[in-house]
Amino acid sequence: MIATMPQQIRNRVEKLRRELHEHDYRYYVLAKPTISDEQYDRMMRELSDLEEQYPQLQSPDSPTQRVGGEPTKEFATVTHSPSMLSLANSYSEEEIRDFDRRVHELLKRQTPTYVAELKVDGVAIALKYRYGMFVQGATRGDGNQGDDITHNLRTIRSIPLHLRSKVPSLMTIEVRGEVFMDKDEFEKMNMQRAANSQKVFINPRNATAGTLKLQDPKIVASRPIKMIAYSLFAPKYRGKLESHFENIQTLKSLGFPINEYTRRCKNIDEVIEFWRLWEGMRNSLPYDIDGVVAKVDSLKQQQDLGSIAKSPRWAMAFKFSARKAETRLKNIRLQVGRVGTVTPVADLEPVFLAGTTVSRATLHNPDYIRELDLRIGDTVVVEKGGDVIPKVSAVVTSKRQKESKPYVMQNRCPQCGSPIYRPQNEVNYFCVNSECPAQVKGRIEHFAHRGAMDIEGFGDSVVEQIVSLGLVKNYSDLYSLHKHRKILVALEHWGEKSTQNLIEAIGRSKKQPFPRVLFALGIRHVGAGVAQVLAEHFTSIEALQEATEEELRSVSEIGPKIAESIIHFFHDKHNRNIVKKLQESGVTLAASAVKTKGNLSGKTFVLTGTLPTYSREEAKRIIEENGGRVASGVNKIVDYVLVGEDAGAKLVRARKLGIRTISENELTNMIR
Ligand code: IVH
Repeated sequence: MIATMPQQIRNRVEKLRRELHEHDYRYYVLAKPTISDEQYDRMMRELSDLEEQYPQLQSPDSPTQRVGGEPTKEFATVTHSPSMLSLANSYSEEEIRDFDRRVHELLKRQTPTYVAELKVDGVAIALKYRYGMFVQGATRGDGNQGDDITHNLRTIRSIPLHLRSKVPSLMTIEVRGEVFMDKDEFEKMNMQRAANSQKVFINPRNATAGTLKLQDPKIVASRPIKMIAYSLFAPKYRGKLESHFENIQTLKSLGFPINEYTRRCKNIDEVIEFWRLWEGMRNSLPYDIDGVVAKVDSLKQQQDLGSIAKSPRWAMAFKFSARKAETRLKNIRLQVGRVGTVTPVADLEPVFLAGTTVSRATLHNPDYIRELDLRIGDTVVVEKGGDVIPKVSAVVTSKRQKESKPYVMQNRCPQCGSPIYRPQNEVNYFCVNSECPAQVKGRIEHFAHRGAMDIEGFGDSVVEQIVSLGLVKNYSDLYSLHKHRKILVALEHWGEKSTQNLIEAIGRSKKQPFPRVLFALGIRHVGAGVAQVLAEHFTSIEALQEATEEELRSVSEIGPKIAESIIHFFHDKHNRNIVKKLQESGVTLAASAVKTKGNLSGKTFVLTGTLPTYSREEAKRIIEENGGRVASGVNKIVDYVLVGEDAGAKLVRARKLGIRTISENELTNMIR
C-alpha cells in the first residue's frame, strides 16, 4: 500500500537529494569532502528509508540509485552521432614532429596551438544529458554502435546525475570521457577477490571493461570505478565555445571531473616536453596512463582538419614505451596465507623493468597457471600493470624447451606438510591444518596490521620470532606477552626499549573501536567495510555471536557467503575462546563506549518511521546520552523498536520477533 505523503516529507527528500548530490560532487569530483563518511551514510540511509516508504517519490536521478537497480537481461544498442573516433598512435619524437608538420601543411597559413592531455588507460564512454539530466550512457563499441549501459554508469559517483550549472539553450549535450580504476583500489579489489576465491583481473583496464559489461548494476556499484571527461558536444553552444580548452573548462563547470594535468601548449615543443615529463612521472600517478594526447586547440581548425577513416587529423596519441619484459620462470613456489589459502608465486630470473628489478611475480591461483599453460623453465612476459606488483602475463611459446612439462599442483602444504584441498566452486587450494605455522603467523600479522589493531613496531620479523619461540599461539596471547618481558628483552635485536614500546603499543590497541577489532579477527570474507556494517548492526560481539544465519542475511550488505563464514567462525570453540580471552583482556568488543549510567543503560534501540517531534539524529542522541545504544537492524538482541509514522519493514520484523515497540512519548517517559 502506498502511504499518503505529507509535503514535509517531499521537501525533506528533495533537501536530502540536493545535499547528497553536492557531497558526491565534493567527494568524487573535487576530492574535498566536507562531511564525514558517517554523516553521509546517515543521510543516504534516511533518504532510502523515505523512498522505500513513499515509492511514489522514487526517481532515477536520486543519489540512492547509485547503488544499482535490477539486473538487465541484455544491453540495448546505441548509435553514436558523431561516431566515437579513436586516435592514431606514435611512439617517437620524429613521429610527433611529423604530425605537427602535417597539421601545419593542412592549415596553410594558420598556426595551431595544442592542448596536451594524459591518456588515461581505461575505457571510453559517451554520456547524454537532456535538460540537464543524465539520460543515457554507452560504451564505444565499434565507434558507430555501442551498448546502452546507463544503469551501470549511474552507479559511478563521479558521473553527475544532474549538470551543475544551467545553460538555458543547452537542451541535449553529449559528454565523452574515460572510465578507469585507481591502481591501489584495483589491487585492493583483486586481493579481496583472491581471498574470496574469485577470479582476479589482469589489470585495472580489464577490470573496468569487465565491470561495465556486468548485467547487475549492484555489483558495478561496489567496484571502485571513476570517470574523467575529455570531450563535449553541445550543438546549441556552437559559436560560444571556440577552443577545446574552453570545452574542458565548461565540462568542469557542469560538474564533470576533468584531468588536472591538462595543459595548453603554444607549440609542438611544449607538447614533447609534456610527453617526456609524464613518461618519467607516470608511476607517481594513482592511475595508469599509456601516453599523452595532443589535440589542436581551435575548434574551427579541428573542423578544417577533419578526420581520416577512424581517427581525427587534429589529434594524436603519443604513447610511452611498454612496461613489459621477457625473462625466465625459474620456479613456482606456494605461499600460505592466514586463512590457509595456498597461492602460487613465480620465481623469475631477475629482470629490470620500469625502474625496479623484478624477481618475483604473483600467479594468483592454479587456474591462472593453467590458462597460460605456464611451465617451469618457460620464457615469460612480465608486466607492470596496475601496481608495483608485477604479473606474468604471457608465455613466449616459441622459446619453450621441448622437454618442458605442464605444471602439476603439489598436494601438500609447503609449510607444514598437511594435505591441501580445493573446495567445490573455489579457485584456490587450502591447507587443512589451522595450526599451520604460516596460518598462525598470517592471522597474527593481520590482527596487528595498520588497518586493523594498528600495533606499531609489530612487523613480520617480530611475529616470526615470537611465534617460533612459542610465546604467542594466537592473537589473544598478545595481551599476555608482557609476562614474557624477560625473554623478549634478551632476544637478538631487541632490548629494554623496544620491548617496552611494543608492550605499550599492544596495550593501546585495546582502545581500537569495535569495527576494527571485528576486522582484525580475520573472519573470512569480513573485510573492513563488512566489519563496519556488522558493528553498526549488531553493536556487540555477543549479539554477533548469537546471530542466526537469517538475522545476518537480513542485513542488506551481508550475502550467504559472509553469513556462512561468520557462523562458521563462531561455531568453532577455539575461536570463541580466543574472543573470550580478548574480552577479558579489555579489548573493545562493543560499539561506541556505552554509558553505564542512565535510564536506558544497556538497552538497544532501533528507530523506524518519522517521529512526531524528534529527528532521527535527535532521537539517537537522546538515547545515547541516557546510556542506550542505537542499532540499524532489528534482531533478537534489540530491546525496543521506536516507531514513528509510516514505519516500514522494521516494524513488521519487530512484531515477528516479539520485540517491544514504543512511541516517542514512551521514550520520553523512560528517560524522565
Ligand atoms: S580523445 C577523437 N582524449 O584513447 C578523439 N581519448 O584511441 C577521441 N583516451 O577511445 C579520443 N584519454 O578511450 C581522448 N584525453 C583523452 C584520452 C583518450 C584516454 C582513450 C579513449 C579513446 C582512446 C583513443
